Amino acid sequence: MKDFTYYNPVKVVFGANAIERLADLVPPQAKVLLVTGTGSIRTNGVYDRVMKGLSGRKVVEYSGIEPNPEYEKCMEAVMRVRESGATFLLSVGGGSVLDATKFIAVAAPWKKGDPWDIVEKSAPVEDALPIGCVLTLPATGSEVNGNSVISRRAKGQKLAFSTPMVMPVFSLLDPATTLSLSWRQTANGIVDAFVHVMEQYLTYDVDTRLQDRQAEAILSTLIEVAPRLKADPADLNARATLMWAASNALNNLINCGTVQDWSTHVIGHELTALHGLDHAQTLAIVLPAVMRHQKAQKGQKIAQFGQRVLGISGATQDEIVERTIAATAAFFEEVGIPTRLGSWGLTVEQCLPAAAAIGGRDGHIGEHQDIGENEVAAILHLCA
Ligand code: NZQ
Ligand code: ZN
Repeated sequence: MKDFTYYNPVKVVFGANAIERLADLVPPQAKVLLVTGTGSIRTNGVYDRVMKGLSGRKVVEYSGIEPNPEYEKCMEAVMRVRESGATFLLSVGGGSVLDATKFIAVAAPWKKGDPWDIVEKSAPVEDALPIGCVLTLPATGSEVNGNSVISRRAKGQKLAFSTPMVMPVFSLLDPATTLSLSWRQTANGIVDAFVHVMEQYLTYDVDTRLQDRQAEAILSTLIEVAPRLKADPADLNARATLMWAASNALNNLINCGTVQDWSTHVIGHELTALHGLDHAQTLAIVLPAVMRHQKAQKGQKIAQFGQRVLGISGATQDEIVERTIAATAAFFEEVGIPTRLGSWGLTVEQCLPAAAAIGGRDGHIGEHQDIGENEVAAILHLCA
């Protein structure tokens, strides 16, 4: 096991009355900037519950954050913070709204030129406004981590930054808020959480037995809950299970002392930047191809996943690995997310600029840093 520091100060309130806790969790003197998406919270009752919880506070609003949040919009919200003198940011929505809020939190006090440097050049963050979160979509784990992914379409970029300074002070998770999700967004959440676990688990063995089993527990839970939710999207206990599983998939716990990958995410972000696919749609395409391409390096862990989580057996490790890769792709297909570029009307050639972008920016990715431009291109060919 590698050395590690575990740190997670986010207060999570989970359950039916979580949103009502705004009344005691938002500082009484705070001037709140409420950051919201494109309208779902106005039709499912969440907005009214939030405003009730905030009654008595000074509140200004910035709405219209879209999926794969855009730098330009975040900068508009930064202007709103500066004009209004807001001292506290409250994100109400999914991962995109929260990731945008995180960027606004660091960009508003930034005095060293363009805050895009925080994202593009990993410029060190020294100050951030405090953030509260009301989560309405279980997927990213953003509610319990310090990560944020921002797009800058004018530059064709979708990039992540990370700092503990943007971990929310609190995250309020009421599973009932997720009942209004479409199956597309529910399936996206299942696959995103699943791949988050894989990025932290499917590398090579450094004797992290507890963390492996914690990861496998989340994977088993997601595989179990997916058909249950598909059969009955109104199953509130299944909604709660997915919500807590997605948070646990990326809350800094299962990666303690492990070796991490994240190449599927880096490639997936490029595919979203190029072609606008949903985040999880890109992951469903890329992960099976990364598993196949990196079979030699990841074989032992792939087989462990197959045997322990999927109950797969075979005469040789290679047979188990092949069956496990096929079963992983089949799981994504069963939740309704196609795993081939062709199913999305895309050719490999249309996606190859992703390889050039990663090669030019990151050099090499993956747990062995052995995936460069040529290897990304080879992985994309396996996605055809
Ligand atoms: O804009 P609104 O009206 O809120 O609609 C949203 C949006 O259209 C809708 N939605 C959210 N909650 C709903 C709802 N519709 C009905 N009922 C509800 N309760 O769902 C749509 C998608 O929302 P979005 O926030 O974009 O989805 P998600 O939470 O999957 O976030 C995706 C973004 O997070 C990034 C992704 O790259 C992508 O940009 N990620 C962030 C991570 C992190 N911060 O740790 C890690 C992830 O790997 C990921 O990269
Ligand atoms: Zn993800």
